[in-house]
Amino acid sequence: MQPSGAWALKPLVDMTPAEFYDWQTLLEERTGVVISEQRQAFLQTNLSARMRELGVADYASYYRQVTDGPRGAVEWSILLDRLTVQETRFFRHRPSFQVLEHYLGERLARAEVGEQPWALWSVGCSSGEEPYSLAISAAEVLRDSERPAHFGVTGTDISLNALSKARAGQYGARKLEQMDIELCERYFDAQSDGRFKVVPSLAARVCCARLNVLELAKAPMSGMDVIFCQNLLIYFRRWRRREILNRLAERLAPGGLLVVGVGEVIGWQHPELEPVADERVLAFTRKG
Ligand SMILES: C[S@@+](CC[C@H](N)C(=O)[O-])C[C@H]1O[C@@H](n2cnc3c(N)ncnc32)[C@H](O)[C@@H]1O
Repeated sequence: MQPSGAWALKPLVDMTPAEFYDWQTLLEERTGVVISEQRQAFLQTNLSARMRELGVADYASYYRQVTDGPRGAVEWSILLDRLTVQETRFFRHRPSFQVLEHYLGERLARAEVGEQPWALWSVGCSSGEEPYSLAISAAEVLRDSERPAHFGVTGTDISLNALSKARAGQYGARKLEQMDIELCERYFDAQSDGRFKVVPSLAARVCCARLNVLELAKAPMSGMDVIFCQNLLIYFRRWRRREILNRLAERLAPGGLLVVGVGEVIGWQHPELEPVADERVLAFTRKG
């Protein structure tokens, strides 16, 4: 028998084409994320790393483990974080946030007494930078108004790990480097460990929940004023991107704003939506 240290370093063999197909299909069926053949090495490396941790020697045994009922579900949620990209930043695509702030400014100018608080939604919110950026934009627009808390942001993601980071709302100093210093001071509290925590008044306006975007039919969201869906659909097949955008469009309130990542869908149209006339962004408003 080999010592365990040597075993841990032993490279796993290449997947067979059938194994690659099984893993690729499992990931796509469960998340929509497509791993192309060019990214087989990425899949192998990440599966192998997890298999080593568990002491599982071959892909087929691990596949059975991951697909084995409730126990498999726990393992799947761990694996998911290794196979999906969760990279994100505050105010990641500035022009999209500029369009949002302009839109909210106009909404505020037209606001009527008794209007419902604005409902904003970050689809594929990762560790929270996007929903908190949406919240900061809304808070800034409303800051000098009579109703500074007239909004709520929902962040949804498939990853429980990402969601727990989003709920914690604590970020290292480097995460805030690109942000306007005034916004940092207004919306984050410095912690004794050098990290920064979202201030309670802003955190209270943001809620994060698990939602697989392939299961939008189960989502209770409706009448949303703003939906941001950025850097999620790029990992999906084109027909699925359109399908999801059609479902998101149905969740928008009349006059609501849908913002998608630039280039993430080409030539998509919806009879109820009008494109925002700004070539820096891919955004639509719902008629009415
Ligand atoms: C690259 S991050 C994008 C984060 C943020 N929207 C941004 O633009 O910075 C993609 C996120 O989508 C999530 N994701 C992947 N598949 C998903 C699915 N089927 N349903 C919901 N979220 C999913 C991942 O967990 C990840 O957090």
